[in-house]
Amino acid sequence: MAANNNNILKKVIQVSKKYHYESKEEIFKEVFEQHIKQVVNYSKKLARKLSADSEVCEIAAWLYDISRPVGIQENHSNKSADIAKDILKQLDYDKDKIKNVKHCIKTHSADYNGKRRTVEAKILASSDALSHLDRIPELLDIFCQTNNMSMMEAKRLVLDKVEKGWKLMLPEAKELGKKKYEAVKVLLK
Ligand SMILES: [Fe+2]
Repeated sequence: MAANNNNILKKVIQVSKKYHYESKEEIFKEVFEQHIKQVVNYSKKLARKLSADSEVCEIAAWLYDISRPVGIQENHSNKSADIAKDILKQLDYDKDKIKNVKHCIKTHSADYNGKRRTVEAKILASSDALSHLDRIPELLDIFCQTNNMSMMEAKRLVLDKVEKGWKLMLPEAKELGKKKYEAVKVLLK
């Protein structure tokens, strides 16, 4: 069983890499290397700390934004959850675990207003928010270049994103991100 689940994890990593590397938009290679991998690392770390299901956390972290590289930005949390479900079903992954992975992905965004019902969902949302603290220059660049904003406006939006992420973080995640959060507030205010 364990070997089988290891194979599933390997396949999930391959699929996530393929989606990002074969995207029409060049930026998703960097997103995979700099952001997705970072979210996976934070998820594994927090899962260990909180005795959560680290396999569910890791799979959800590889797949949580999977609709973006194929161009689906609108409602991307639900779309990514659907794609993840299809991938995991094909791999014959455990049904209850698929449900949890889907819930994690649907609720990962800081803009999600409902309840995160599982510790794994709280871990994914916290890990995504933690990773943003490591990517402030990239986020500013994306807002300025892609969205054609002034640096002032981009700074305001990035700070807003950071504050929203901070609010949803588990205490254990805040412990990991506290220094960076304080520094970002000093730099962007
Ligand atoms: Fe997302």
